Amino acid sequence: MAQRVCPWWLGYLLACPLRRFAQDPAKLLAPYVREGMTVLEAGPGMGFFTLDLARLVGPSGRVVAVDIQARMIASLKRRAARAGLLERLDARLASASSLGVADLVGAVDFWLLFAVVHELPAVETFFAELAQALKPGAGLLLVEPVGHVKPAQFEAELQAAAKAGFVVADRPSIRRSRAALLLKKVGASVRG
Ligand SMILES: C[S@@+](CC[C@H](N)C(=O)[O-])C[C@H]1O[C@@H](n2cnc3c(N)ncnc32)[C@H](O)[C@@H]1O
Repeated sequence: MAQRVCPWWLGYLLACPLRRFAQDPAKLLAPYVREGMTVLEAGPGMGFFTLDLARLVGPSGRVVAVDIQARMIASLKRRAARAGLLERLDARLASASSLGVADLVGAVDFWLLFAVVHELPAVETFFAELAQALKPGAGLLLVEPVGHVKPAQFEAELQAAAKAGFVVADRPSIRRSRAALLLKKVGASVRG
């Protein structure tokens, strides 16, 4: 399933405000995110969704954003600082083998994966790491671009998630995307 990683310069295009006409972050995320939550986002790029996540969790919440590219993280932090949201953001650099969120076992209320899973080398390991971080019953919004991810590949991603203890709760309609809301099964092992 692994594809090459999105080039850093594409991060500027993905964070362009015009994208809001097709995919409005506040509207897409509001049903899942509330004040005070701890939210994780893997592969935030330069933060098209991250800043709205930080607004939705409010001053008492936090957003942990983990990307494998230092340039994405640096730009994300600059944007968050300009928006006055840096205090709510914990931006981390992932390694190729791990997201580096072992300190968050059972602490995460919601996880966003937007246009990132098709870039990962080991999807099953990734979902197991995710399952450890999420609280039982917590939600995960998995979204993939239709242009890069065919229906069969999306179904394979859902199967990998199922092996880690997730169930599909909804198939939200998001423009130019394949999307699923997954819930971590209550009673699923914290080891995934
Ligand atoms: C296509 S971009 C999507 C960015 C953002 N989610 C959006 O929709 O605008 C994919 C992002 O995932 C990141 N990424 C790829 N592999 C990763 C990994 N193993 N861990 C964390 N981030 C990763 C890339 O660096 C890039 O920022």
